[in-house]
Amino acid sequence: MQLKTLLTLLPALAAVPINAYFILSHSVLETTRMDPIISPGGVSQHVHSIVGGSNFDDTMTYQSALASGCTTAPVSVDKSNYWTPQLYYYGPDDQSFQLIPVNYVNTYYLPRGPNNSYNVSAFPDGLRMIAGNPYRRTYNASSFADQAVSFVCLDYNTDHSGDPDWAQRNNFFDHNCPSGMRMQVNFPSCWDGVNLDSADHTSHMAYASGGPNGGGDCPSTHPVHLVTLFYEFIYNVQNFPFNNASYPTWVLANGDTTGYGFHGDFVNGWPAHVNGTNVLQQALDQCNDNNGVGGELNNCPPFVPYLNNAAASACKPQNDQIDEDIGLGHKISKLPGDNPLWIGNSTTKPTTANYTEPNTTYTNFESVIPTGYNYVGCIAEGTSGRALTGKSISNANMTRGACVSFCQSFGFPLAGVEYGQVSAHPASAPPYRVLC
Ligand SMILES: *[C@@H]1O[C@H](CO)[C@@H](O)[C@H](O)[C@H]1NC(C)=O
Ligand SMILES: *[C@@H]1O[C@H](CO)[C@@H](O)[C@H](O)[C@H]1NC(C)=O
Ligand SMILES: *[C@@H]1O[C@H](CO)[C@@H](O)[C@H](O)[C@H]1NC(C)=O
Ligand SMILES: *[C@@H]1O[C@H](CO)[C@@H](O)[C@H](O)[C@H]1NC(C)=O
Ligand SMILES: *[C@@H]1O[C@H](CO)[C@@H](O)[C@H](O)[C@H]1NC(C)=O
Ligand SMILES: *[C@@H]1O[C@H](CO)[C@@H](O)[C@H](O)[C@H]1NC(C)=O
Ligand SMILES: *[C@@H]1O[C@H](CO)[C@@H](O)[C@H](O)[C@H]1NC(C)=O
Ligand SMILES: *[C@@H]1O[C@H](CO)[C@@H](O)[C@H](O)[C@H]1NC(C)=O
Ligand SMILES: *[C@@H]1O[C@H](CO)[C@@H](O)[C@H](O)[C@H]1NC(C)=O
Repeated sequence: MQLKTLLTLLPALAAVPINAYFILSHSVLETTRMDPIISPGGVSQHVHSIVGGSNFDDTMTYQSALASGCTTAPVSVDKSNYWTPQLYYYGPDDQSFQLIPVNYVNTYYLPRGPNNSYNVSAFPDGLRMIAGNPYRRTYNASSFADQAVSFVCLDYNTDHSGDPDWAQRNNFFDHNCPSGMRMQVNFPSCWDGVNLDSADHTSHMAYASGGPNGGGDCPSTHPVHLVTLFYEFIYNVQNFPFNNASYPTWVLANGDTTGYGFHGDFVNGWPAHVNGTNVLQQALDQCNDNNGVGGELNNCPPFVPYLNNAAASACKPQNDQIDEDIGLGHKISKLPGDNPLWIGNSTTKPTTANYTEPNTTYTNFESVIPTGYNYVGCIAEGTSGRALTGKSISNANMTRGACVSFCQSFGFPLAGVEYGQVSAHPASAPPYRVLC
């Protein structure tokens, strides 16, 4: 996991110093076609890149978020999920798509309160929301919602300041980014105080008078000033060529070649408020300007008992993912879902003739180790006797999750899988054997 400090934020109000924030840095939890906000209980329209709590799935609730066994957040009590559409590279010669890997993700918590104060509330239990709009194809400079989506072209070796071709902008660049491209979205910080979600997943929230950065006052319709959430998804675009002007290079998973349709989704998974406070509220109250934290979470006392980078790095998803090829490391001929290239400014989504959804979900046993067990690594056995002597079973397509489940069913605390076709076993033996 990498920590990178903020390079460019939208302009802050003068009285609220730019260092009044804290960052949770994540690596990706999973990349799959699920979205519990837009498509609860089913396959979502496009592939997402998801970070946060391990219990993410298509039907998740606040309670199931809290039940996550781990999180990609370095603060272990934050079981929230944060996700955005995945970015793809378009190959013009064979009209192919290839997933551009996310390098890392930063989720910022910005205490931009009313009247230039830091006085903001933690997210209410069960809050979920969306910022941005996958159908947007133009930019309205007067709209806070449009201003909230932006892109930064990273070049750590050359200073491009003052060059408009390299300035932060609201759609994709027309050149490559030597150190990666940062896709950003600011969430609205004013809550109506009643609804934890809304039919369009946005109207229970509003931007403050100061704009997407969250400063200023909240409208009377949305009077509760929450912390401002800001996402940075940093993509390794530099590992793919930039196509000539005849073709798009970057495509969002919904087919958008402009970038205007970039958006972010959030499901709160901070532990429940107790008497009006929780860990997040304590952090917001204690770790603002007087104790500027940034990425140095150790400087924020409420977080200190919960900091665990090792657990965050090791965190794996617990649940089903969609059984389809997402184009990681190789080309695919179509974006997953009904998503042909969507070029230009039409807000009508093109569709694929005779498209059929693939069959439901599957359990990715590679990544699912039952709660209570941890991966500890490999052991070398001695020459006499076996390390694990309790039970065994053989299976041609064994996985870590199935291995642990087998041993767990007999109450064993240790589980191991070995390759079966070694000299000690007949060549006809199934390839994998589980020992408890
Ligand atoms: C901000 O300050 C003004 C002027 O003092 C006051 O009228 C207003 O209520 C304050 N807003 C909030 C949200 O505290
Ligand atoms: C912060 O907001 C709360 C709730 O609106 C209010 O009771 C309190 O007086 C505010 N504190 C400051 C310092 O503005
Ligand atoms: C642009 O946004 C402003 C502010 O939301 C709105 O009043 C205006 O109608 C929008 N313009 C267009 C063309 O949509
Ligand atoms: C643009 O790229 C395509 C695909 O690689 C190629 O066929 C075409 O000749 C290029 N056009 C120009 C003007 O370079
Ligand atoms: C919540 O507040 C009540 C009433 O003041 C108090 O009795 C209780 O102990 C508090 N609970 C916690 C967990 O602080
Ligand atoms: C869409 O693009 C066309 C062609 O460039 C342009 O004429 C039209 O004004 C655009 N529409 C909007 C809503 O920006
Ligand atoms: C879609 O299905 C119809 C009816 O089966 C068929 O006539 C048509 O050729 C199909 N279109 C494509 C693009 O496969
Ligand atoms: C889904 O599974 C059914 C039954 O196995 C099969 O008939 C169908 O073709 C599958 N559909 C797709 C899109 O793979
Ligand atoms: C491999 O795993 C699948 C799914 O659990 C199972 O249906 C199949 O029987 C397994 N194959 C073998 C050879 O055990």
